[in-house]
Amino acid sequence: MAALKGGVGKTTSAIHLAACLHQDAPTVLIDSDKNESALTWARQNQLPFPVCPLEGATKYIRKATHVVIDTQARPSPHDLESIAQGCDLLILPTTPKALDLDALIRTADLLEDLKAKYKVLLTMVPPRRRRPGRQVTEMSLKERKARELLLQAEIPVFESSITLYTAFERAPLMGVTVERYPDEYAQAAWDCYCAVSQEVLHNV
Ligand SMILES: Nc1ncnc2c1ncn2[C@@H]1O[C@H](COP(=O)(O)OP(=O)(O)OP(=O)(O)O)[C@@H](O)[C@H]1O
Ligand SMILES: [Mg+2]
Repeated sequence: MAALKGGVGKTTSAIHLAACLHQDAPTVLIDSDKNESALTWARQNQLPFPVCPLEGATKYIRKATHVVIDTQARPSPHDLESIAQGCDLLILPTTPKALDLDALIRTADLLEDLKAKYKVLLTMVPPRRRRPGRQVTEMSLKERKARELLLQAEIPVFESSITLYTAFERAPLMGVTVERYPDEYAQAAWDCYCAVSQEVLHNV
C-alpha cells in the first residue's frame, strides 16, 4: 500500500486486505510506517494474522504465503521506487476527492517511468444506491467521475471499491477488523475488502 497523499485509507486497506488474504493462506502484515498505525491496531491481539515492524519481519515472512506492507504517506521518489520494485502488486488507495486524485495521478506517472505493476483502489466512496423500481445498484456520481478520470489517464483501477462506512473508523478502537464491529453495515463494509482480495489473488 502506498500513496503520496496521507489519510487515503492505506492502513485500513492493509489491515482488511491482510485479513481477507489470510482466509486464503497464511498472511503477514508488515508495518513500515513510523507512525505504527497498523501495529497499534494489532496491539489488542484481536487480529487473526500477525502484524510486525519492518525490523524482524523475516521470521514472519518465512511462514507466510501473502505479505502485505503498509507504508508511510508521502514517500520520496526513491522510497517509492524501492517499494515498487519489492512487491508483486503496488496498491494505491485514493479517495475520489479531486486533490487526492491529483496526487494519485502524479504517483502513477512516477510508477509508469519505473514500469511498476500497480493498481488503484478507490476508498471512502459514497454508497451505491438502488433507484426505485430497479434491481441493480448505481455507483455515486463522485465514484463515476473518479473512474472516468482514471480511465482517461489510462490508470488501472480495481473494479471493486471501498465504501465510506463509519464502522471503518471505529473498528481500530476495538482492535478488530470491521466485520467484528457491532454495526449494521459491518458485513457490507467487510464484503468490500473481500471483493478486492479476490481481484488481488487474480492479479498477482
Ligand atoms: N472506507 C472508509 N470509511 C470511513 N472511514 C474510513 C474508511 N477508510 C479509512 N477511513 C478513515 O479515514 C482515516 C484515514 O484512514 P487510514 O488511517 O487508513 O489512512 P492512511 O492512508 O493509512 O493514513 P496515513 O497517511 O496517516 O497513514 C481514518 O480515520 C480511517 O478510520
Ligand atoms: Mg496509515
